Amino acid sequence: MLQIPTNKPKNSKVEEVRKEPVNNISLGQNKKISRKQFFQRIGLISLLPLAGIWFSTAERTKIRERQLKKINIPSNVPFGVSFFGSVIVSKNDEHTNIFSAKCTHLGCMINKSEDGALVCPCHGSRFSANGKVIKGPADKSLEKLPYKTNPRTGEITVEVLV
Ligand code: FES
Repeated sequence: MLQIPTNKPKNSKVEEVRKEPVNNISLGQNKKISRKQFFQRIGLISLLPLAGIWFSTAERTKIRERQLKKINIPSNVPFGVSFFGSVIVSKNDEHTNIFSAKCTHLGCMINKSEDGALVCPCHGSRFSANGKVIKGPADKSLEKLPYKTNPRTGEITVEVLV
């Protein structure tokens, strides 16, 4: 029988490399893991930042909930401006506005009204009954707060950060 000679030596390095399992990935120093294990590890590592974001968001939500204070305002609030701690209620025939009493200049609590204007005791900023700046140094309107009205009792509930 005629044999055709090949140029490849039988035990060459090329042959040895081919014998290595294709699915193994070398991590150096003879540590080898399968391709599946490699991608599992990469997947777990890539989840760490997401876990961090989730954890910090959950923590911030808890902290925010702890800092929220509910203020109940009775249904029979008189027309005009009324003060309920850190909340100002401005009521007229048509609607009720609820503002944070925190001055938009440097954060002092507004606690009085003069001639229909809300007056900051610290630097004299004045705001209209609808929260707009009449006189500085404040240059932003008062923060309008969302509120819920109990349909049965008419009581208003506001949540404010303390
Ligand atoms: Fe109100 Fe400055 S903090 S005017």
